Amino acid sequence: MLYAKPLDEIFLGFQNFFEIREIAVILGKKKNLVGLDIGSSSIKMVSLRERGKGKGFELLNFGIKPLPREAIVGGTIMDASAVIFAIQELIQESNLKEQNVATSVDGASVIIQKINMTAMSDAELNEAIRWEAGQYIPFDIEEVRLDHEILEQDPTTGNLKVLLVAAKRDLVNEYTSILAQAGLNTFAVDIDSFCVQNAYEINYPTNASEITALVNIGASTTNVCMVKGTVPLFWRDLQWGGDNFTEGIQRELTLNFEQAEAAKEGKEDSGIKMEQVIPIINQMNQEFGIELKKTLDFFKLTTNEGAVQKIVLSGGGSKVPNLDRFLAQQFGVSVEVMNPFQNIDVSESNFSVDTVNALAPMFAVSVGLALRKVGE
Ligand SMILES: Nc1ncnc2c1ncn2[C@@H]1O[C@H](COP(=O)(O)OP(=O)(O)OP(=O)(O)O)[C@@H](O)[C@H]1O
Ligand SMILES: [Mg+2]
Repeated sequence: MLYAKPLDEIFLGFQNFFEIREIAVILGKKKNLVGLDIGSSSIKMVSLRERGKGKGFELLNFGIKPLPREAIVGGTIMDASAVIFAIQELIQESNLKEQNVATSVDGASVIIQKINMTAMSDAELNEAIRWEAGQYIPFDIEEVRLDHEILEQDPTTGNLKVLLVAAKRDLVNEYTSILAQAGLNTFAVDIDSFCVQNAYEINYPTNASEITALVNIGASTTNVCMVKGTVPLFWRDLQWGGDNFTEGIQRELTLNFEQAEAAKEGKEDSGIKMEQVIPIINQMNQEFGIELKKTLDFFKLTTNEGAVQKIVLSGGGSKVPNLDRFLAQQFGVSVEVMNPFQNIDVSESNFSVDTVNALAPMFAVSVGLALRKVGE
């Protein structure tokens, strides 16, 4: 049986964010979308197959393609052809045949907010949410795509806790247009933090009373998401990431960006000894710790949920030497680096398991995206 939805219909739902379009879906056979995470330093692709409800996932395909440094700056695509070219190369090199993808956005053009609303019908809420959103969105309401999801309803008063998500229309259009030019169909545009949370939940047991900070450290942005069990409580994107470490090394050792990047990753061909780099990294770890502390303190102050009990790192920045140990010491909590493939079957005959494991933390967003299905 086939059904169709009009193009450009926004599918409402937390963690099913911005359903861009849906053509025809065979009911009962919803395939996973290909997750394509367009990061500022590289594009990451993951394709998964669900074995059947509750039977886990299998890795079908994955790949990564570096981007030139100036191609995406502060989340804005500066050099569209470089990004399109990289996506096409990634498709070719990984022999990707699927064209239906999910991608995500983050940063200053995305607003996520939990709001309280009085009891009302879905239709009334759809209307009211636009007015309510105006208070939280520092842009013209006409310039954003809005989505919302009811998180909780008070059983006695009927009052609602609603998750409001807004992303600048231009940003969403920019990403979908790039993907279209690379020959792909975008079925969903998600939010990086939501993807990280989804990737975490399929790989790790959650504790309903424990507050965990999911901290995804990219090259230019760090997505912080506080969760209590599976309930999301707070989101914040920091303009801080792996690039700050590289720039610190660049400054201190008078290197160019590429040399400093290689030195940071401990590559032998950088010609720089790790003992020269480590003191600089330790200094940068402290600076990152200060940034993260501001966010954790703000969370504690504004939500009354208590202190964070555990930190889970992901993103390429989580591979910076000593960072996990440093944060564990600073915050006095356990710090873990996420492996988003931990619970996913990775066939040893199709993939180099060592490569998958070495790159794993960078794939948190793309695994989260690859969990999305057409028409979900
Ligand atoms: N082995 C390593 N040691 C230290 N840093 C590393 C290592 N491998 C990758 N990184 C850093 O991780 C960052 C890239 O991570 P990631 O792929 O998660 O970012 P991105 O998605 O491209 O960026 P953003 O999300 O900020 O746009 C870069 O700063 C890179 O230098
Ligand atoms: Mg990223």
